[in-house]
Amino acid sequence: TPHSSALLELHQLLSLFMDTNAHPQQCDLTGWWKNDLGSRMQVFKVENDGTFSGEYHTAVSSAMKPIQPSPLVGSQHLDEDGQCTFGFTVNWKKFSDSTAVFVGQCFNGGDGKEVLHTSWLLREKVDAESNDWKATRTGRNTFARMG
Ligand code: BTN
Repeated sequence: TPHSSALLELHQLLSLFMDTNAHPQQCDLTGWWKNDLGSRMQVFKVENDGTFSGEYHTAVSSAMKPIQPSPLVGSQHLDEDGQCTFGFTVNWKKFSDSTAVFVGQCFNGGDGKEVLHTSWLLREKVDAESNDWKATRTGRNTFARMG
């Protein structure tokens, strides 16, 4: 009806001035994050298409060589509700033959602080196909923003 569409327009006009629609909870992964194991990662920059790269500093390892910072590449959704899903791969090539993939989602906790809930698969290299069954570990990590 003309009356209700006038009301709708009034509401839209009001929201322009009163910011009633202005709660854009972005989920930009750029920056430093720390997980429950003490591992840290830096996401350098998220591109306009959601792809990103960074560096992962794991606090723990099952490899024999000393831990080194490791490159990561990933992709995130760009939804504006602050609850984007994402995935990334870490190649531990400097000290391990393994590869890890993480998938997760960003949330804004009750306190408004950003948190990432992730699940991961860690694939180790085995010397024979008959050992394939034991080559993949899985787990979960929660990350909080450091900076
Ligand atoms: C390796 O052990 O071969 C390389 C390091 C793997 C570190 C894993 S990846 C999943 C879990 N979450 C972390 O932050 N570190 C471990």
